[in-house]
Amino acid sequence: MAIRNILTDNDPTLRKKSRDVTAFDERLHTLLDDMRETMEAANGVGLAAPQVGILRRVVVVNVDDSYIELINPVIVEMSGEQTDAEGCLSLPGVCGTVTRPNFVKVKAVDRMGCSFYVSGEGLMARAFCHEIDHLEGVLFSDKASEMFDVE
Ligand code: CO
Repeated sequence: MAIRNILTDNDPTLRKKSRDVTAFDERLHTLLDDMRETMEAANGVGLAAPQVGILRRVVVVNVDDSYIELINPVIVEMSGEQTDAEGCLSLPGVCGTVTRPNFVKVKAVDRMGCSFYVSGEGLMARAFCHEIDHLEGVLFSDKASEMFDVE
């Protein structure tokens, strides 16, 4: 495993749309392992492949010690609403207030190519939405009602 460089700020790759994963091979597994290590080293709750320069629909999330890999994720259900502060490893030094659904159900495939559903609420739902936005080239700052600096 290796820690990869996280793209930040105005890097144009962060604004591009990612493509579906079609090969569930060693290269994908290495990407996932590296993304997990990179996220954990940065104390993040989630990381999307475009943040490490790979325009593929791959997301890792780690909320409350639940580590989840989502490949080709699609939100199939959402309900409720939550408004809270949100940050991003690609936008260091700033946070923003973002309203998200309080519950989402996601359909995805695992690293072997098997499809599954996973649901999350609260922070987990927020992380799913935030990371899936990255696959569309959307950053939380696009949706924030206000932005503020953090130490
Ligand atoms: Co982010």
